[in-house]
Amino acid sequence: MAEALTRSAARNIFFGGSLFFFIVFAALTAHTHWYMLNVSTDEEALTEQVKLGKHVWEQHSCINCHSLLGEGAYFAPELGNVWTRYGGRENPDAARAGLKGWIRAQPLNVPGRRVMPKIDLTDEELDALVEFLAWTDSIDTQGWPPHPAG
Ligand code: HEC
Repeated sequence: MAEALTRSAARNIFFGGSLFFFIVFAALTAHTHWYMLNVSTDEEALTEQVKLGKHVWEQHSCINCHSLLGEGAYFAPELGNVWTRYGGRENPDAARAGLKGWIRAQPLNVPGRRVMPKIDLTDEELDALVEFLAWTDSIDTQGWPPHPAG
């Protein structure tokens, strides 16, 4: 098997393989970018209120305890689907009131349960936050999270 692989053949395989997979990588990156902008982002529903809600979400570091679509901390429930879990798809008004009421009612201090702190938010901020959670819920996550509570 002495003639198996010459030096130049090995070099060609190395450079050819590197180039090939770099092109595949670049194509997949471009496709992901295109897909995010044109298919998976519901831009029409991305209102100023949703943007304000995202800002409130970031300002108060909700992600330090919660996860959103699997990203974040696993101390508190997943909130990417909380809108559906509160019945927002069937009855948006009740879900809006339920979510706002929940956030306002903290801390519950139920023994043996993890505590969510009181977070001071204006009515406008709360409304925006709920719209942000509803918008996030509309993202097609292709079945994530596998369990409804995250
Ligand atoms: C210090 C940790 C912490 C922070 C920060 C926090 N939460 Fe929570 N949150 C919790 C915990 C713990 C629970 C569950 C409490 C329970 O079940 O009694 C919870 C529950 C919730 C629920 C109800 C979830 C459900 O499935 O019923 C919502 C909605 C919520 N949080 C929204 C928020 C928002 C919005 C923010 C940011 C403004 C936030 N939380 C910040 C700890 C936190």
